[in-house]
Amino acid sequence: MSQQVQGVIARSVGAPVELTTIVIPDPGPGEAVIQIQACGVCHTDLHYREGGINDDFPFLLGHEAAGIVEAVGPGVTEVAPGDFVILNWRAVCGQCRACLRGRPQYCFATHNAKQKMTLVDGTELSPALGIGAFAEKTLVAAGQCTKVDPAAPPAVAGLLGCGVMAGIGAVVNTGNVSRGDSVAVIGCGGVGAAAIAGARLAGAAKIIAVDLDDRKLAKALELGATHTVNSGQVDPVETIRTITNGFGADVVVEAVGRPETYKQAFYARDLAGTVVLVGVPTPDMKIELPLAEVFGRGGSLKSSWYGDCLPSRDFPMLIDLFLQGRLPLDAFVSETVGLDEIEAAFVKMQAGDVLRSVVLF
Ligand SMILES: NC(=O)c1ccc[n+]([C@@H]2O[C@H](COP(=O)([O-])OP(=O)(O)OC[C@H]3O[C@@H](n4cnc5c(N)ncnc54)[C@H](O)[C@@H]3O)[C@@H](O)[C@H]2O)c1
Ligand SMILES: [Zn+2]
Ligand SMILES: [Zn+2]
Repeated sequence: MSQQVQGVIARSVGAPVELTTIVIPDPGPGEAVIQIQACGVCHTDLHYREGGINDDFPFLLGHEAAGIVEAVGPGVTEVAPGDFVILNWRAVCGQCRACLRGRPQYCFATHNAKQKMTLVDGTELSPALGIGAFAEKTLVAAGQCTKVDPAAPPAVAGLLGCGVMAGIGAVVNTGNVSRGDSVAVIGCGGVGAAAIAGARLAGAAKIIAVDLDDRKLAKALELGATHTVNSGQVDPVETIRTITNGFGADVVVEAVGRPETYKQAFYARDLAGTVVLVGVPTPDMKIELPLAEVFGRGGSLKSSWYGDCLPSRDFPMLIDLFLQGRLPLDAFVSETVGLDEIEAAFVKMQAGDVLRSVVLF
């Protein structure tokens, strides 16, 4: 027996999102139905609405979520009804080349539910990042559910499902930051601010926050930045060099996704340092760099998808650190909103007023 719940869809390019009735099938083999408790509003949801991801409208938006497993399909052993889970968009397949060579954090064949959720007229929905959690309930592959300590509030736990994990992982997993390193983060929105919290967790000695918006820089200080740079007022490359005794930072995280900020990251790192690109560029963007500098500076230029995370390893650990008071995940929740307030949340996100608006159910 399928069931009907309320969910938020994007019907066509640029049109305001709609709260409507959607149909959730019973879970089939390997699937689970989740009762959503909280779902953060991420830039990627807006990208979907604007047609920036693909044309598979209508989309069921929302992908940064935590909730309770309501029902599981045949053969599901990893989770059971009643479990508190964070949903992920990297349900490792165990069979692709990355998985088989022991690097499941690079899995490129992630599992999603096989059945489709639909509108009441039968139109098939495309769930954002294979999740679709701006809905009272959603259908996912069981591997997309990671069980964590239910002592964590859902609004906080859900954030690990996307942006906050991307930021922390960019530093801890991709950048391999360790005790005593200097780290600069360019762009301190939800993702960059999480990178700053990750740098503190990893024991970085100098943590330099760079943004154009003083509100973001103030928040970065709360999360562990030791220095702030308003790059609208001073040259960020020169300033990062000065703060690091003339050398440049060991690791520079680019969390904007633009050619000019990528170049700043390239030049602001020390010799043999690392650049981690976590900001997502648009297809038209290009950069030009002197090849002699690429060679001469050594080190590595990396990109980070989802913080190179492994949900089964990273989500429970980060929730435990939060519960111990060692990772202030609650500081990322700027406001909680209702399911009918997604458009307003998009506006606040674009104006830079929030790190995260989180829908509470
Ligand atoms: N790699 C991944 O897996 C992943 C996951 C989620 C999000 N992202 C991407 O990360 C990026 C940041 O996401 P977010 O949610 O933090 O967005 P956001 O809008 O909250 O933050 C962007 C920040 O960059 C600042 N900024 C803009 N232009 C700047 C400039 N020229 N110099 C310095 N700062 C500048 C803004 O003031 C803002 O604080 C986006 O491109 C998003 O798509 C990547
Ligand atoms: Zn795989
Ligand atoms: Zn996201």
